[in-house]
Amino acid sequence: MKNIVLMASGSGSNAENIICFFRDKNILCNFHIITNKKDAFVLERAKKLNVPAEVITKKQNEEGVLLDRINELKPDLIVLAGYLLLFPAEIVALYPNKIINIHPALLPKFGGKGMYGSFVHEAVVAHKESETGITIHYVSEHYDEGAVIFQAKTPVVVTDTPLDIANKVHKLEYEHFPKVIEKLLND
Ligand code: GAR
Repeated sequence: MKNIVLMASGSGSNAENIICFFRDKNILCNFHIITNKKDAFVLERAKKLNVPAEVITKKQNEEGVLLDRINELKPDLIVLAGYLLLFPAEIVALYPNKIINIHPALLPKFGGKGMYGSFVHEAVVAHKESETGITIHYVSEHYDEGAVIFQAKTPVVVTDTPLDIANKVHKLEYEHFPKVIEKLLND
């Protein structure tokens, strides 16, 4: 059975969607959720879904706690699903091609430090983009870099607010992220 570590900093709707996708298909996996925020809503979702979850803070990342925990969990895949901290370089080095991230835009556009969640969608509106989308990519030691695995696009119309764009992007994320994970686990 595959071990999948899901990393999330906030709501965790992608984490829940991924877990439900595998459960609905009767694909048995060991999921484990890690968040850096003790009040993240993803912890409520974990309880509801009966998935083990824990908090490892930014400070603990710096002390090597995340590294030790990841090593104990022996992940086949580490999935950053709305995880907003830079992933520790020593873990990236130890798990080549086993750590992936989803970004709510068409990288290399609108990526980098500080570009997450609604900030990304506000920038898309400010730049009058006619399309945006999602990027799933391998994680490197830099924000939003690393080889692209998958992208999908959605149109942006002039009347779209950042919230409208967030909804369109989430729809793409829910549709594609679990399938990409399934494919990576099977390869
Ligand atoms: C998702 O849209 C994800 O792409 C984004 O955070 C959101 C988390 O939503 N990630 C980033 O911005 C990373 N740079 P969720 O907590 O409801 O899954």
